[in-house]
Amino acid sequence: MTNRNLLVTSALPNANGAIHLGHLLEHIQTDIWVRYQRMRNNQCIYCCADDTHGTAIMLKAEEQGTDPETLIATIQAEHERDFNAFNISHDNYYSTHSDENEALSKAIYLALKDAGQIKKETVNQLFDPEKNMFLADRFIVGSCPKCKTSDQYGDNCEVCGATYAATDLIDPKSKISGAKPVLKESTHFFFALSNFTEFLQQWTRSGTLQEQVANKLSEWLDAGLQDWDISRDAPYFGFEIPDEPGKFFYVWLDAPIGYMASFKNYCSQSKMASPDEFWDSYWREDSEHEVHHFIGKDIINFHALFWPAMLKTAGFRTPTRIHVHGFITVNGQKMSKSRGTFINAHTFAEHINPEFLRYYYATKLSNDIDDMDINLQDFVQKVNSDLVGKVVNIASRCAGFIKKKFDGKLSAQPTTPLIAEFISQQTAVEQFYEAGDFSKAARQIMAMADKANQYIAEHEPWVKIKQPGNELDVHNVCSDGINMFRIIIAYLKPILPTLAEKSETFLNVDLLSWDSIKTPLVNHPINKFKPLLARAENKDVEAMIAASTELSEPDTTDTEDTQAASSTASSAVSNTASNTVSVTAEPILPEIEFDDFAKVDLRIATIINAEAVEGADKLLKLTLDIGTEQRNVFAGIKAAYKPEQLIGQQTVMVANLKPRKMRFGVSEGMVLAAGPGGKEIYLLTPGTGAIAGMQVN
Ligand code: MSP
Ligand code: ZN
Repeated sequence: MTNRNLLVTSALPNANGAIHLGHLLEHIQTDIWVRYQRMRNNQCIYCCADDTHGTAIMLKAEEQGTDPETLIATIQAEHERDFNAFNISHDNYYSTHSDENEALSKAIYLALKDAGQIKKETVNQLFDPEKNMFLADRFIVGSCPKCKTSDQYGDNCEVCGATYAATDLIDPKSKISGAKPVLKESTHFFFALSNFTEFLQQWTRSGTLQEQVANKLSEWLDAGLQDWDISRDAPYFGFEIPDEPGKFFYVWLDAPIGYMASFKNYCSQSKMASPDEFWDSYWREDSEHEVHHFIGKDIINFHALFWPAMLKTAGFRTPTRIHVHGFITVNGQKMSKSRGTFINAHTFAEHINPEFLRYYYATKLSNDIDDMDINLQDFVQKVNSDLVGKVVNIASRCAGFIKKKFDGKLSAQPTTPLIAEFISQQTAVEQFYEAGDFSKAARQIMAMADKANQYIAEHEPWVKIKQPGNELDVHNVCSDGINMFRIIIAYLKPILPTLAEKSETFLNVDLLSWDSIKTPLVNHPINKFKPLLARAENKDVEAMIAASTELSEPDTTDTEDTQAASSTASSAVSNTASNTVSVTAEPILPEIEFDDFAKVDLRIATIINAEAVEGADKLLKLTLDIGTEQRNVFAGIKAAYKPEQLIGQQTVMVANLKPRKMRFGVSEGMVLAAGPGGKEIYLLTPGTGAIAGMQVN
């Protein structure tokens, strides 16, 4: 296959706030894809910018006593710092407030106008007579016309869910000056989107979109498209519309054009001979190069309706593919400042290795647009177990022997068939990366790491090395281990560029390229092994949450602040004879620190078997599946449950309780229950809010 030429973008972050975990999902997703494409020797240029225009930024600057230009410059520097910390390899990070963007926006608007697709209409809009400006819905508050709740925005009521026009609000006020808004006429400019229904019906089904997205758009297309209001009245921070003094482009008109403008700026900064021609080779109508946009599901209409219609009318090519992702939640809920889960990129990078987030996101990302939950406990467990426990472990188990016993040199040839097996999986890994199915890629690569570890464990080089005559065998096993590690790291390189770089130094190779995967290292000197990755620590996650928690100023955009119930179950626990902890009326034990509580690893477990224990009249032997492994636990619940009632149920267990040798066997953990005891013991079950055994049939 000949090499491809790709221009790739992430949505332009708004210049009125910090980069947070949600933006990072998108940039990490894009960056993994981009790095993969570059490893395949495709030309892949990744451009982004800050989205700087609009009323919000204008007002924020005013509030800070500065001008919008100063504000957006400060924010852009912060955004670039944050993306660098996460190794996002933008080729250009620009601003929509640029000469290139102004010129392109005006040219495209004039092309739309020439094509007869711009309409002028008079609209009535609420106006702030003190501030002398028209008010968008979110700058008007009043009482809901339906349920009468006060302090509701001009478009919908957060309490009863009613949607209405701002003019329907009871007793409306300007959020900016507090003045009572008045209705005022104004001329607006509209892009005649309704003329493009047929084109879009076809375009959205032409392989440019995920099926879920195309289906969503069909609903809108079938309902009929309305013309799109692309103008705003002064005062507005943006670009003035040609020949229409006092009228500005609505921010969403010039924002996507910002992709083209950032790329234009990239071309002119590079040393290439004909930057304009190069730009044109990507954007002209008949271009065979590819343009890929990565966006969140909240901005589909702008990218898959307005944008292709504008491009087509103005004589440019349309995007090759729009890659849409879902939203992230943290610990099962919307990010929240009061819960400390509204985590900024900067705070994250101050406490935790950014590569861990890149890996964790990769394990969550697929080609669909469903939301993804970031569970911070699972995060720590997952990155430690996969990256430290599996991947890096392969190298650290083998490197010492090679260095000490074999002069730092790998053996003359690979001996395990696993190496050929890993190489043969290259096409499958490629397909997962190309499709954006990073979770499947990660799973496949981790399965290789499991096999490599198993292989080393079976051959026990640490035992063999102590017996004479085993040198060759040990040399082969350890060299095979290093070669398997090399393949795994090369596969992971788009996700973990820093780990890959450190591994390249250790392996003493220039560059782990995609093509090099199939060529094992033989008779090759490696360098001294230095720890490649420090474990993620729960205490760092706690410190990060503490640093993100705003106590004084709860975020008004958050929903209610209910604490997860998992901690209450253990706030009054007492250890009974068997391994069941139940809530009782016993006195409360001395207070503990949060650190102490955090040491208790509570897991949801599926009871896959339950049976009576011969010779024990209170105990049941439970087999619990916690996803990563199975545990046997003896629980004193025989009077309360018949074994068959329990099989298939889920319960909560303490997974890191030191195993205890009992008369009947080893108990590897403890299940949580409530009740006074005897027949009245109720296993805690997650999800339903119920306690097993208490449901009334
Ligand atoms: N400025 C516009 C985009 C213009 S593109 C021509 C914008 N900015 S944004 O800062 O609000 O969002 C930028 C991107 O981050 C969007 O793709 C959005 O979907 C994504 N995310 C913002 N919060 C998110 C989550 N909680 N989860 C995942 N992505 C989210 O929209
Ligand atoms: Zn209401």
